[in-house]
Amino acid sequence: MQAARLECVQCGATYGGQEDRLSCEECGDGIRVVVDMQTLSYDNLRARWRERPFRLWRYRELLPVTGEEVTLDEGGTGLLRVNLLGSLGEEFELHVKNEGQNPTGSFKDRGMTVGVTRAKNLGRTRVICASTGNTSASLAAYASRAGMEAIVLVPSGGVAKGKLAQALFNGARVVALDGTFDDAMGVVLDVAEATNAYVLNSINPYRLEGQKTAAFELFDQLGGHVPDWVVCPVGNGGNLAAYWKGFEELFGIGATGRLPRLIGVQADGASPIADAVMAGEDEITPVKEPKTVASAIRIGNPANWRKTMKALRESDGLALKVPDSEILDAQSLLAREEGLFVEPASAASIAGVIRLAREGLFRSGERVVCVCTGHGLKDPDSAMRSFPDVEPVDATVEAIVRAIEGGP
Ligand code: F0G
Repeated sequence: MQAARLECVQCGATYGGQEDRLSCEECGDGIRVVVDMQTLSYDNLRARWRERPFRLWRYRELLPVTGEEVTLDEGGTGLLRVNLLGSLGEEFELHVKNEGQNPTGSFKDRGMTVGVTRAKNLGRTRVICASTGNTSASLAAYASRAGMEAIVLVPSGGVAKGKLAQALFNGARVVALDGTFDDAMGVVLDVAEATNAYVLNSINPYRLEGQKTAAFELFDQLGGHVPDWVVCPVGNGGNLAAYWKGFEELFGIGATGRLPRLIGVQADGASPIADAVMAGEDEITPVKEPKTVASAIRIGNPANWRKTMKALRESDGLALKVPDSEILDAQSLLAREEGLFVEPASAASIAGVIRLAREGLFRSGERVVCVCTGHGLKDPDSAMRSFPDVEPVDATVEAIVRAIEGGP
């Protein structure tokens, strides 16, 4: 555990690391954790990290929580070289960070192991989040593991079945709201206060502390190098900001002298950050009724927009939006060509890379990492919509061969 302080992302006001605080007293904006890295150096950490299993807690020196961690053995997810763009004469290296391998099937587990450990440090016994699905599934699982009570607020009808099943099975109190995810986010702080629950949405900066470890893993998986580009699907924007924090910390401890450029991908119809970045605006205009097949990122008023836009600016990155048709095409391409079944929101990053590759953004030899945030099994309904029903045939060799080979 490293000493840390809290800092406002907007006005820079600072607070002690023991304060239970999600917003700035001075200006009301979001809070980030600043880990004290003065006594840390990669030269000292490298050997310790290598002795530990390739999992999230390998990097414990950079995680500002104390005591025994609440863990389901998360992190250590695969980085796979893929060759989806063969037809475009791909000269850059495309890799997929397969975050669906985490215990509940999404990257949220990185944030929850640290966030729920922090809740335990603070002596809290009840936790809450608003969610498009994955956060609720993950929070429910880690709360069970910690012996805490979980409350999750979800948009009624807006959550993929697999995710809802996880939250229910893990014993969370699931409250479905007649409204969007943004409506749920709009009330979560007040509901938390009224029910004495600890908020574990990504406005809680300890969530992002866990999520930043994916950047450390990429560095280890690429043999002590950072990629040239990291491409993330963006909803609330916390994850992209977390990657940036992780890379900055690697820079801070002297592990790397360079930093990657980040790319944020949103879906058409739910793209306030991409729209603002593309228009050169400093602030977002929220989207009232966000629409996209990628329900995980169906978000019109992203809580972490300021952190995300800062990360994009500082990394000399860019943002773009892609239509649902390209998201679904990318989802099937990845499954068909590489055996990787990811949920639609995750495929947005692949769709973004395909577009940018066609535009000639990536140079020969560059390493591009696409973050695929969640497993395809999370959302069976949207996946099945791409295929006709599988009709049964007689259980005879003739009928089966006919079904395989075609013919009358
Ligand atoms: N991909 C998946 C699969 C997600 O579930 C989410 C967010 C994102 C990408 C976007 O990440 O919000 O950090 O920019 N899901 C949240 C939830 C909102 O409630 O599960 P972000």
